[in-house]
Amino acid sequence: MARNISVLDLRKKKADNERIVMVTAYDYTMARLVDRAGVDMVLVGDSLGMVVQGHDDTLPVDLEHMVYHCRCVARGLSRAHLVADMPFMSYQIDEATALASAGRLVKEGRAHSVKLEGGERSAPAIARIVEAGIPVVGHIGLTPQSVHAMGGFRIQGRSEDDATRLVRDAIAVQDAGAFSLVLEGMPSDVAAEITARLDIPTIGIGAGPDCSGQVLVCNDILGMDLSFSPKFVKRYAKIEETAVAAFETFATEVRDGHFPGPEHSFNRHRGPRAVAKLY
Ligand code: KIV
Repeated sequence: MARNISVLDLRKKKADNERIVMVTAYDYTMARLVDRAGVDMVLVGDSLGMVVQGHDDTLPVDLEHMVYHCRCVARGLSRAHLVADMPFMSYQIDEATALASAGRLVKEGRAHSVKLEGGERSAPAIARIVEAGIPVVGHIGLTPQSVHAMGGFRIQGRSEDDATRLVRDAIAVQDAGAFSLVLEGMPSDVAAEITARLDIPTIGIGAGPDCSGQVLVCNDILGMDLSFSPKFVKRYAKIEETAVAAFETFATEVRDGHFPGPEHSFNRHRGPRAVAKLY
């Protein structure tokens, strides 16, 4: 039986200089597709608050949402390593709360590891979760759960002092026991320096080409919302156009009577069996 990619496999990729590919997914259908495409890590990101739930930021996402979406994604994966994001306020209060939240994501959500935001300040929570046997991915730089503290979704580490703080944060996350670190929204040279100084792999998003791997939100890769085009995103399809055109054609065919045709309709003598086999 095939097994999913483990933290050991991911560490080896860094040692072998092999780039790591991470993509977000929020449901079973998308999970199947990204798994088939051979990505290494699938992240059930709290970005689902924005791309699935339609909020302006990730703050309203709660642990129940994450457990639910994680379970859906887990059913679609047979190869990739599944990372679950820890939502806002599921790990900031104290280490016991952090461990309990991480435990639910692994036990009920079927995640292989969890991800949480923050550097030095999150080190105690990371250490507690790792100590309990749950692998942790850190996340520093532009950390969306701190949107109000940052004054918006802003690139971090532009000044010397801020870049130094990010390097310190990265080392604190590694020392706390994280097996990987997401670097989001920072100058390429800062991400390159962090990647060179760490033993664990870094996964970049808006952090330049010198990270150990890259992550993007699946909706952005597919071009599901063409009005959203930040600099760090590269679109590999324009699904919004394809999908709207398909729905428009469906609507036209329903209205003018072209759908359903005889090939999509059942006749009396074979009906019930054929319907039962549909799904
Ligand atoms: O929530 C998310 O999708 C993320 C990635 C963008 C790294 O944290």
